[in-house]
Order: sequence, then C-alpha cells, then structure tokens
Amino acid sequence: MQPAISISPLPTQAPRTDQAALIAHIKQMLVAQNAVLVAHYYTAPELQELADETGGYVSDSLDMARFGHEHAAKTLVVAGVRFMGETAKILNPEKRVLMIDSAATCSLDEDCPAAAFTAFCDAHPERTVVVYSNTSAAVKARADWVVTSSIAVKVVAHLHAQGKKILWAPDKHLGHYVQQVSGADMLIWDGSCIVHNEFKAKLLADMKAAHPEAGVLVHPESPAGVIELADVVGSTTALIKAAKELPNQTFIVATDNGIFHKMREAAPGKTFMEAPTGGVGATCKSCAHCPWMEMNNLNKLAQVLETGANEIHIDEAIRQKAVVSIQRMLDFAKTSQQTVLGMGNA
Ligand code: 13P
Ligand code: SF4
Repeated sequence: MQPAISISPLPTQAPRTDQAALIAHIKQMLVAQNAVLVAHYYTAPELQELADETGGYVSDSLDMARFGHEHAAKTLVVAGVRFMGETAKILNPEKRVLMIDSAATCSLDEDCPAAAFTAFCDAHPERTVVVYSNTSAAVKARADWVVTSSIAVKVVAHLHAQGKKILWAPDKHLGHYVQQVSGADMLIWDGSCIVHNEFKAKLLADMKAAHPEAGVLVHPESPAGVIELADVVGSTTALIKAAKELPNQTFIVATDNGIFHKMREAAPGKTFMEAPTGGVGATCKSCAHCPWMEMNNLNKLAQVLETGANEIHIDEAIRQKAVVSIQRMLDFAKTSQQTVLGMGNA
C-alpha cells in the first residue's frame, strides 16, 4: 500500500556562503517558477525577510494555510515544519508544495501516531473530534475539525454551545486551556510541544517579580502554571499584536524566540526577554527554540528550488477526508470574522 505521505529527499550539496548572491539567486528562481515563500514566525530572520520582500507571507499556522490557499502561485515553498506543508498540500492538491527540509517535524505530530489516535477515537464515538493543526494528514483525516491556536477556543466554544462533547488532540496544555476558557467537556490526548513544555512557572514568577513593569506574553502550548502568569495568552500573531499594542516597554515572552524578529519589527525600541526554561541546568532539548524550525535555511531553500526536492505528496483518499476538517475551520474563521488577534485574555 502506498504510504500516506512521501517526500523526495534532498541531494547533498556543499553549503554556499555568499548570502547576497544566494538571496538574488533564490529571488530569480521564485519568479521563474511562479513560486511563493510562506514562512512561520519561528523561522530564521533571513527567511522571514525574504518572504516579505518577494510577495510571500510570514504568519501563524492559520494564516499560512489561508494565504497559501488564496495565492495564485503554482508552487508554495513552506519555511516551517512538515504539518504546515501537508496542510498546504491538502488544501491545494493542484499546486506543487515544497518543504525546505523534509525532516522538519513537530513533537506534537510525532506524539500522535494515526493508528493509536484512530483507536482512541473509535473508543469514544460519541465525541466530536477536534485536532490541532500540528498533526499528520492521517490524523486530520480522522478528525471532525482541525483548529490552530488562534481559533481553538472559538471553535470549541461553538461546539460546546451545541451540546457536543469533545475529543481533543494532541497538545494537552492547549487542550486544558481551551477547556478552562470554553467550559467544554473535553477528553484530552497526552501530547506536548518540546519547546513550550519547558517554560517554568516558578522561574517565570521570579522573573516577573524582578521586572514588574514587563508584560507577560504566553503561547497556550505552555504549561498551565505559566499560562496563569500571563497578561496575554494567544497565537503567535496575537502575541506580536499584543507586543505592539500594550503600553509596556518590556515583555517576557513564553514562546519560541524566533518570534522576536517580528516583535522587534512591530514594536521597535521595546525590549523582549525569553521566559525562563530552567537556566543552565535545563533539561530541555530545545530551550525556547524549536530544533525543527531551525532546520530551515537559505542554502536548503536554494537547493530545493534548484532540484524540486522535498515535494509533498499525500494519498488522495486521506487528502479528501482531511480537507473537510481543515476547510471547516477556514469557513468558520470566515463566518465568525476571525481576526488576527485570535484568542487572548488581555
Ligand atoms: P501558531 O499557530 O500560534 O503560530 O503556533 C503554531 C506552532 O506551534 C508552530 O510551532
Ligand atoms: Fe511543534 Fe513546538 Fe516546534 Fe511548534 S515549536 S513546530 S509545536 S515542536
């Protein structure tokens, strides 16, 4: 049987060092191939700048999906992690979707294998299945709804108002946060993000006490004790907006530090500090920076455009099911006039 997902490997090439020439070369290839670069906020500043300069897009997971779907380009190049490329392909089967690095995964996706997840769903047929977008195409295909962090509370509150009970996967912290805000009955899968899971509530409380003037911005993939200390909880887009709009000049930020690039752009002159992950003795594999987002770089982007490697292919039967749950989210976002602020408690 054909695997659900296959990504062709990237041939090995020597790294290039002349950055200006490399960027010019990539820009030419993007135009020649009618390709557009869609980047997540956690990727390297030079990739974000290139996306902005070439008519591409830098955003959170929801808006990356929306942009790729609405853009006329024949090729979408995704600077991010695999589930983002898969979402783009599910929504745009007629487009070529390339990943900068095919090995860039996500611990939430890895924590939720499709077979075990399907068995979990089968054991609870009375529940509406809502999955975070940080999942494989096969998991999305088993779901009733896909959500991103910017729309999760709204969707679950909407389902709760209809009397539905929820089965939620894979991020337990986001799940508990959504449960707390929406009041919904939720059965929650035990997954977590290796970046956000490492933020430490006790150390954050100490840091807050040492910087009482600082606003605390927290992504809801963080543990509950960290979320409790937040001034704003929200998607990456919501946190950048808060950095700009709140009067504070200093912020403590509990999310991947790749976001500082856009925060500094949005709020020049303000100061941004990483929320503590446990200091020098930290056990984290990725203190405040996602190792898979880090795999994206300009050299690999150039190689991918030159060779067409890392193209995403998705089994059509799986795609046809997964697109229903993703499209449901996009339609809901449109009708509920989902703004870029998404959720937040500011
Ligand atoms: P956002 O949708 O808030 O950007 O978060 C997605 C994510 O976890 C990327 O790692
Ligand atoms: Fe996944 Fe966490 Fe990396 Fe986002 S930051 S891609 S949730 S591991």
